[in-house]
Amino acid sequence: MIINYNELESIRRYKLMSNTVIPRPIAWIVTEDEGIINAAPFSYFTPLSSDPAVIIVSIGQKEEGIPKDSLANILKHKKATICFANEKNVEEVKLCANMLDKNESEVETYNIETKRVLEQFPPMIASSQTALFCEFYDKIDLPGKTTPILLEIKSQYAQDGLFNERFDGMPDNIGRSGIVFKKMEDL
Ligand SMILES: Cc1cc2nc3c(=O)[nH]c(=O)nc-3n(C[C@H](O)[C@H](O)[C@H](O)COP(=O)(O)O)c2cc1C
Repeated sequence: MIINYNELESIRRYKLMSNTVIPRPIAWIVTEDEGIINAAPFSYFTPLSSDPAVIIVSIGQKEEGIPKDSLANILKHKKATICFANEKNVEEVKLCANMLDKNESEVETYNIETKRVLEQFPPMIASSQTALFCEFYDKIDLPGKTTPILLEIKSQYAQDGLFNERFDGMPDNIGRSGIVFKKMEDL
């Protein structure tokens, strides 16, 4: 079977790509605007380079011409804290995918505990074992509704004991396998 992408409507193309390019890590991105803390998961996410330490994440629109809150906040404040999800907080990740108004905070609405580790970056999700404190690096202008954003990692939080001095060690991250969440080491 050969599937011609030119003949697929965009929603079916999304479903097919999403069910094929697996497993994908999940960036649980925390941003801030005017004191409102926003958190949302994104799986069109991958590391691009370690020197510079740059990741890419593609973020869509809320509706025609209106960017998702995470994208709007990153473009405005040039900062994002990328947290990693694990089996213990997977239900909170799913809640954060609900579309709230721009002036509503997912972490407040769903009582998700955060902690501010670095003053100049958005707080991290307290139950994440590790988080990347990032600054806006660049964006790619694609036709369509999705904006790929490049973010440079400036610092990383790692829970005590997660890595040794040689950075051996691994967090219990979950990833996305089609529409299902799975522990990375089981994938
Ligand atoms: C596991 C998972 C992965 C997701 N990946 C993406 C993605 O890569 N890009 C995207 O635009 N939305 C993605 N979403 C949907 C967003 O999380 C959702 O639209 C969210 O409401 C955006 O919130 P915001 O407006 O606060 O940024 C994903 C949802 C889930 C549950």
